[in-house]
Amino acid sequence: MKAKNCLIFGGSGQIGLNLIRKLTKNNYRVTVVTRNIHQKSYKIKTQGNAGYIDIIEANIFDEKKIRNLFKEADICINLIGILFEKKGGNTFKNIHSVLPSLLAKLCKEYNLTHFIHLSALGINDSIDSDYAKSKLEGETNVLKNFPLTTILRPSIVYSVDDNFTTNFMTLLNRLPVFPLYYDGKTKFAPIHCSDLTDTIYHIVSKNIYSKIIECVGPEVISLKQILEKLQILISKKRILLPFPLPIAKLTATLFEILPNPLLTRDQLRLLKYDNVKSGKYKTNSDIGIPSVRFFDQEVKKYSYMWREGGQFSTDKYLSENNLKNKTDSKF
Ligand SMILES: NC(=O)c1ccc[n+]([C@@H]2O[C@H](COP(=O)([O-])OP(=O)(O)OC[C@H]3O[C@@H](n4cnc5c(N)ncnc54)[C@H](OP(=O)(O)O)[C@@H]3O)[C@@H](O)[C@H]2O)c1
Repeated sequence: MKAKNCLIFGGSGQIGLNLIRKLTKNNYRVTVVTRNIHQKSYKIKTQGNAGYIDIIEANIFDEKKIRNLFKEADICINLIGILFEKKGGNTFKNIHSVLPSLLAKLCKEYNLTHFIHLSALGINDSIDSDYAKSKLEGETNVLKNFPLTTILRPSIVYSVDDNFTTNFMTLLNRLPVFPLYYDGKTKFAPIHCSDLTDTIYHIVSKNIYSKIIECVGPEVISLKQILEKLQILISKKRILLPFPLPIAKLTATLFEILPNPLLTRDQLRLLKYDNVKSGKYKTNSDIGIPSVRFFDQEVKKYSYMWREGGQFSTDKYLSENNLKNKTDSKF
C-alpha cells in the first residue's frame, strides 16, 4: 500500500519534530514546509529514515508555491503559531487566522482526507488577549473553509525540547527571587509532547473526525506548584515572590523591547485564565488516548542538566523523596 503523505507546516518546532518521528516510524511520508531550509533541515532530516521526509522552503503566504504541495498530499497538519508579534507580516492575525484559513481552503480544493490545526486551550475565556482572539478567529475560518478539520487545543506542552520547563529551570537556576504572577494560582494541565503527538497520530490513523478536541495531561497543577516541582527537580530553593499587577505590567512592557521577550503584556493577560479542560468539548481521553506521562517523572529525565554538576550530577540517580530531602536540608 502506498504510504500516505502528510504535509506539515511548522514541522521544525517542538511538536513538529516529535510528530515527524511518530509518523515516519509508522510508515507515513512527510513533507515539511520551512521558512529556512539551511537552518532547519539538519534537524528535520534526522527525525526519520531516508526517503520518508521531504523538506520544502517556502514563504507560507506564497499560495502558488504551497498550492503545488497540496496536489501530492493526503493529510495536512498546521503547527505554525507565535507567542508574540514581530515586525512585518508576523502578526497574530496573519499567523493564526489568515494562514490557517488559506490552508483549509486548499485542503478542500484538493480533497485532502484530514486537516489538523493546532489551536490552544482556554481561548474562549481569554477575551482580552490578542493571541486568544486570533486563535479563535482562526478556528472559525478553518471550520468554514474545510468542515472536516480537526482542531486540537492543547494546554501547555512540555518535553526536553520545550521553551517552558527548560526556560523556567534556567531562570530558577540564575535568579534568587522568582516573580509569581497572579500569586501563581493559574491552573494548567501540562501535556507531554509525546502524549499530544500520540493523539495526532491516532486521529490520522483511525480517521477520527471531531471538530474540537482539548488535549490535556493527567494532572491539574498551578503555576506555583509547577515552579516548586521544578525547584525540587533541579535542587534549588528560590523565593517565589508574588508580583503586584502594575509591576508585572511594567516589567512586561520593558521585556517587549527585547527581540524574544520573556513575557509580554498580552501573555500576562492570558496568564490570568486557567488553562484546563472546559468540559464543553471532547478531550484526548474521550477519543481513547488519555495522557499517560506525569510531569515530575518526565521532567526528571532531563532536569539533571540544570543541577549542580550538570551531566555529572549524581542526583540523577536519587529518588524524588531523597532529592526533596537533599534540597530541604540545604536551607
Ligand atoms: N508548545 C506549547 O506549549 C503549545 C501550547 C498550546 C498550543 N500550541 C500550538 O501548537 C502549535 C505548535 O507549537 P510548537 O510549540 O511546536 O511551535 P513552535 O516550536 O514555536 O513553532 C513551530 C514552527 O512554526 C514556524 N513558525 C514560527 N513562527 C513563524 C512565522 N512567524 N511565520 C512562519 N512560520 C513560523 C517555525 O517553523 P520554520 O522556522 O521551520 O519555518 C516553527 O518551528 C502552535 O500553533 C502553537 O500555538 C503550542
